Amino acid sequence: MKDKVPDIKYLFEPRAVAVIGASQDKTKLGYHVVDNIVSGGYKGKIYPINPRGGDICGHRVYARIEDVDDDIDVVSIVVPAKFVFEAVKSCAEKGVKFASIITSGFAEVGNVEEERRIVACARDHGMRIQGPNIFGIYSCVSSLNATFSAGCPEPGGVAIITQSGALGLGMIGKTAIEHLGLSAIVSVGNKSDLDEADLLEYLIPQEETKLIFMYIEGVQDGEKLIRVLSAATKKKPVIVLKSGRSERGAIAAASHTGSLAGSDDVFDAIMRQCGVLRAECVKEGFDWCKFIAASPPPPGDNTVIITNGGGIGVMATDASEKYNVALYDDAATLKEAFTAVTPDFGSTKNPVDITGQAGRAEYNVALDAALNHRDMHGVMALYCETAVFDAENLSSMIMENSRKYREGGKPLVFAVFGGRKSEDCISQCREQNIPVFSDVYEAVSCMGSLYRYYNYKNNISEGEATVELDTRLIETIAHQALQQNRFFLLANEAQAIMKIAGVEVPRSSVARNLDEAVRCSEDIGYPVVMKVVSRDIIHKSDAGGVALNLENKNEVIDAYQAIIQNCKAYNPNAFIEGVEIAEMVKPGTELIIGARRDATFGTIVMVGLGGIYVEVMKDVTFRYFPLDRREVMNMIKEIRSYPLLLGVRGEEKKDIDGAADMIIKLGSIIQNCKTISDIEINPLRVYEGKGVKAVDVRILLSKVERSNQHE
Ligand code: COA
Repeated sequence: MKDKVPDIKYLFEPRAVAVIGASQDKTKLGYHVVDNIVSGGYKGKIYPINPRGGDICGHRVYARIEDVDDDIDVVSIVVPAKFVFEAVKSCAEKGVKFASIITSGFAEVGNVEEERRIVACARDHGMRIQGPNIFGIYSCVSSLNATFSAGCPEPGGVAIITQSGALGLGMIGKTAIEHLGLSAIVSVGNKSDLDEADLLEYLIPQEETKLIFMYIEGVQDGEKLIRVLSAATKKKPVIVLKSGRSERGAIAAASHTGSLAGSDDVFDAIMRQCGVLRAECVKEGFDWCKFIAASPPPPGDNTVIITNGGGIGVMATDASEKYNVALYDDAATLKEAFTAVTPDFGSTKNPVDITGQAGRAEYNVALDAALNHRDMHGVMALYCETAVFDAENLSSMIMENSRKYREGGKPLVFAVFGGRKSEDCISQCREQNIPVFSDVYEAVSCMGSLYRYYNYKNNISEGEATVELDTRLIETIAHQALQQNRFFLLANEAQAIMKIAGVEVPRSSVARNLDEAVRCSEDIGYPVVMKVVSRDIIHKSDAGGVALNLENKNEVIDAYQAIIQNCKAYNPNAFIEGVEIAEMVKPGTELIIGARRDATFGTIVMVGLGGIYVEVMKDVTFRYFPLDRREVMNMIKEIRSYPLLLGVRGEEKKDIDGAADMIIKLGSIIQNCKTISDIEINPLRVYEGKGVKAVDVRILLSKVERSNQHE
């Protein structure tokens, strides 16, 4: 196996390309790939390969790749699946850098072994594979369209990486009619070798690419993707559309490309953590691409709505709440800025209603006022078609103001609602790369996505919150359980690990007789709970083996005697080791805190509303680990129950810092102790002022780790 891999640049900027399976038959993909390369104006050398020889699109056809006396950077392969291995082998042996395998019929239909064989052969010779099961690659810098698309993309600043080839081909057509210019569009298909992260490595520093749009169905190496996406969003916006959100959708995605969709909640949280904007559908993603690519970075997020219609202004206000767009609300400043252009029956409050009688001049004055005001950072301008506004002038008014805002460094988005003339205006503006929308929600969603990205970018912090742990001691406890063929820890073992990690658990000890029971209770302090300890009694409550809230010595004596009597009656043969005396934990706000090793994304931490309603409320949120303390706090703030931690009805604020420490501790255990795969504290009682207590702790062990030990 060759250690050195070719520079990914040569996939996008090849000096020579070959097409194996090039055909003169215009019904075949092998013809269209060659035709697209030639008609797309590719400047490098082109070598069609087909044993029949001859000529395709004015280029001599070579019988075999070996016959080409030149160094080839990219080979596009369009022969049936059964011939692909031989084609790859000949390319690899010739020293080709990248094979772009368009052919279908591999992992996506269960032909996994053949796909592996192909990748292994390529890797042995230092060649990389794009695909298989892809449409190919389009790269604007080299004018290379090595795809079988029906048309050619418009050049521009958006790069698209798509897992679905057919969707990508559709996107080529759609972006062209939407005037969304592309710097590149690539499909990764089965991701047998190159994946999204590898392609991002090229696109992140590439100057022509201003924004990246990705369509994902499943992720294989999630940790690598997180690393690369985090690096990408520091430089440019990344928009991700991931399908397989629903259970059925996830199954469909798995059978489409042979990759698992994973938990959508986890994926969603991770994307946000990486600063990625997640779009719901292609339309929303493209709208964001157009708007963000055309907008300057906002100087702040105080936004003003300027409208000629009250209803549309109210709708935009609702949408602003949905998409987290902050509306500027200094009434005095708004009045001063917009009085001149607002009739008495209008409103200078935000939304600023310049009324249905507003024409071009009024829009210009209002937009100038917002542009020139230091505290107004962006505008959403709405227009409902009226006879008053000379519609012939609408597009030129929008274009002129868009230019002014771009030069002034503030974002401006227009929503235009009306008949034919309005629709024509939208088309004319789009042709000039000025995004104008016919729906208010679309416009506000765009503004929200812009703010979200720049908010993230301007607040990136690099720290990692971890804790020092005695991992050796923790691993020893876990290994003892594994030696007994157990993949879970007993309550006392889990508590021991919590103590090592400095997590407070209820005080407890086991009493073997009545005297010890009284002594333990007094040591722990009343009230206490008492539970029978017997491996022969699994359901302690059923056996009458549990007593709660014991307030004094006499109650302890009575409870001890009752428990022993009940349990003997319940199972006369049970071996009773004693009773566990534990602190009766004070009530507090109940959280669930967890950490686990995810097969795709590595260590994932979780926090949410705990107790018995976890499953019903589903008020949980996730992050990948490690993360910095600010992100831990963001995570806690994100749950719907966060106000409970701030204190309600006269309560003091709860120990949120203490809960944050727990998240970091559990994440650190999973990160550093490979034997442990899952930890969950539920409930973690969080108290007013200071103090948290892990009432119940569940720890699972890693099966993979164990099988490795036996190898
Ligand atoms: N070297 C060079 N040329 C070869 C060859 C080889 N080793 N083996 C076959 N060929 C030639 C064939 O002779 C044919 O040329 P011809 O038209 O002159 O006879 C050409 O390659 C194509 O082979 P053919 O057998 O006609 O296949 P095809 O064009 O019907 O189908 C694929 C090939 C790759 C298109 C098809 O197998 C496939 O995978 N289709 C799905 C592609 C897809 O959807 N991908 C995902 C996109 S989103």
